Amino acid sequence: MELRSIELELPDPVGAGRFLTEIWGLGAVAAGPDPDRVYLRGSGDQPYLVGLYRADHTLVRSVTFLADEWELAAVSARAAAQGVSVVPADSDDPGAGRGLLVTLPDGAVIRLLAGAAGVEPLPHVPDRAVRLTHVVLNAVDAEATARFAEDILGFKVSDRTKGMVFVRCNQSHHSIAFARAGFASLNHIAFEMADIDAVMRGIGRLRDVGMVPAWGPGRHGPGANVFAYFIAPFGAVVEFSTAVELVGEDYPTGSPEDWTWPPNRIDQWGISGKDMAALGIAERTFRFRRT
Ligand SMILES: [Fe+2]
Repeated sequence: MELRSIELELPDPVGAGRFLTEIWGLGAVAAGPDPDRVYLRGSGDQPYLVGLYRADHTLVRSVTFLADEWELAAVSARAAAQGVSVVPADSDDPGAGRGLLVTLPDGAVIRLLAGAAGVEPLPHVPDRAVRLTHVVLNAVDAEATARFAEDILGFKVSDRTKGMVFVRCNQSHHSIAFARAGFASLNHIAFEMADIDAVMRGIGRLRDVGMVPAWGPGRHGPGANVFAYFIAPFGAVVEFSTAVELVGEDYPTGSPEDWTWPPNRIDQWGISGKDMAALGIAERTFRFRRT
C-alpha cells in the first residue's frame, strides 16, 4: 500500500488552501463544482495530497492509502474474521477509486482506495513537496492502535520509542505512526521533499513570511528522515521531510531501549530546538469524528 492523502474538515478551507499553496508550496487543484472543497497537490503523480472540506469544526475526515483490489479483499476478510466492521465507500475526491473505510480503535478513519487515478507529475521545482511521506496520529493507546493496524490493515511495526510506534505499509520505514499521547488527534502531516536542499529552501520560504520551525531542522532517529516542523495558521502541525530510510522485510523491530538520546539531544544532529508548548496545543486541534 501507499499513503496518498489526508482529508480535513475545517471552517475556512479557502484560507487554509491559500497558506498551503502560496506559502507551504503545494499546487492548487482546479476547483470542482463544490465551492466548499479545496484540494492541494504535490509535484508527484497523486491528484491531491490534502483535501479540505468546509465545516463548523476541525477534524480529520480520513487518512487515505492506495491499495490493490486484493488488499481490500484481504483487509475485509481479516476484519470479518475478527469482528471488526468496515464500510465500503467509493471516493468522490479527485482520482475517485473504490474505497473501504476502516476505523482505528481511537476513532481515526483510514480509507483504503483501489483503482484511484493518478495524474502527470509536475516538472521538478527545487523547493516543492512531492507527496505525503507520513501522517502521525496521537493515540489513547498507541500499542493497541498499532496492533490493529497490523492485524486488520496488514501493516508492520518498524520501531517503538518511548513516545511513538512507527508503522510501515511498504518499504518506507513509516507511513503512519501512533504517538503515546493518551488522547486521540492528528499529531502532524509530513510532506516529502526531494532532498535536504529542498527542505532547507522550504524553511527559507517560510522564514520569508516570518515563520520559524516549531522543531528543526534536524534528523530523526527511527527512519533517519530529515525534518522541519511548522504550525500552520489553520492549526495543524506540518512537516517538511526527506530521506526516510527504506527497509526490508527483515528489518529488526526496534524497542525504546534501542532509541535513546544522550542528555539534551533530541535528534541525530543535535541542533534542533523544539517549541513543546506550541506544538502541544497544535497537536490537539484536529480530532476524529468519534473523539
Ligand atoms: Fe514526522
